[in-house]
Amino acid sequence: MTRTTESRAMQGKVALVTGAAGGIGAAVVRAIAERGGVTAAVDANSVALKETTEPLAAEGLRVEAFVADVTRPDDVEATVTAVEARLGPVDYLVNAAGILRLGDARNLSDTDWADTMAVNATGVFHMSRAVVNRMVPRRAGALVTVASNAAGTPRTQMAAYAASKAAATMFTKCLGLEVAEFGIRCNLVAPGSTDTPMLSSMWHDHDSGRETTVRGSLETYKVGIPLRKLATPREIADAVVFLLSEQASHITLHALTVDGGATLGV
Ligand SMILES: NC(=O)c1ccc[n+]([C@@H]2O[C@H](COP(=O)([O-])OP(=O)(O)OC[C@H]3O[C@@H](n4cnc5c(N)ncnc54)[C@H](O)[C@@H]3O)[C@@H](O)[C@H]2O)c1
Repeated sequence: MTRTTESRAMQGKVALVTGAAGGIGAAVVRAIAERGGVTAAVDANSVALKETTEPLAAEGLRVEAFVADVTRPDDVEATVTAVEARLGPVDYLVNAAGILRLGDARNLSDTDWADTMAVNATGVFHMSRAVVNRMVPRRAGALVTVASNAAGTPRTQMAAYAASKAAATMFTKCLGLEVAEFGIRCNLVAPGSTDTPMLSSMWHDHDSGRETTVRGSLETYKVGIPLRKLATPREIADAVVFLLSEQASHITLHALTVDGGATLGV
C-alpha cells in the first residue's frame, strides 16, 4: 500500500517548499502531495527541479514547479505571487533550500561565508517574509524551516554553515513569536546526517564516509549516531509534515531534532 491511500489529511492545502529538487525538499514535496496537498516545488536548479517534479506529477500527485533563487528578494516576491495566483493561498511554507561550504573558520573565503549566509539565513528571511505577510490577514498558516543540529553544536569545518543555521533558527522563532497571535505556527526541524547529495559531498569515499559518519570520530569531536544509521530524507520529511499538520496545532517556536541521537539530546 502506498502512503497515498494512508491519509488525505492535507487535502486541499497549498504548500510551498523551497529546495524542492534536493534530497530532503523532494521528500517533503512527496509527503505533502501523498497526503492530498497541492505543492509548489521551488528551487534554483531548473533541471533538477524538472527531474523531481515530473515523475511525481506522472504518479498523479499535485505538484507544480517554480524556478526561483531564494537569495533574490524580487524573485521570491514574484514567485509567491505566481504560486498564489496559480494554486491559491499558501497554507504551509517549508524552507528547505540550503548550501554547505566546508572549511576551517580561520581560512573561509569571503565568498563562501557570504553565499552560505545568503541562502541559509537570508533566503529563509526572504521567503518567510513574503509568505507570512500573506498569511497574517488570513489568520492561518504553518511554517517549518529545515535548519540543522549544527545550529546548536559546534562542528569543525562547518563554522559558516552552523552560523547560518543558528541565524535561521532564531529568525524563525522570533517570527513565530510575532505571528502567534494570528494563529500562525513557526517551527524548525533540525536534521543530523541525512542521506542526500549534500551529505555525500562531505565524503572522500562513499562507503568509508558513511561508516565514519555513523561510527563518529574522536579527532573531530563527533560521537557518531547512537541509532547506528543515517536518516533517510523521508524520516526528515515525516517530522516536517507532523509540524505542519493539525496534530501539531499547539506547537510553535519549537526545534525538533531528528538526528538519531547524534547530539545526545542536548
Ligand atoms: N543532508 C544532511 O545531512 C542535512 C543535515 C542537516 C540539515 N540539512 C539541511 O536540509 C536542507 C535540505 O538539504 P539536502 O540534504 O536535501 O540538500 P540538497 O543539496 O540535496 O538540496 C538542497 C537544494 O537547495 C537548492 N538551493 C540551493 N540554493 C538555492 C537558492 N539560492 N534558491 C533556491 N534553491 C536553492 C538546491 O538546488 C538543492 O536542490 C538544507 O537546508 C540543509 O542545510 C541537511
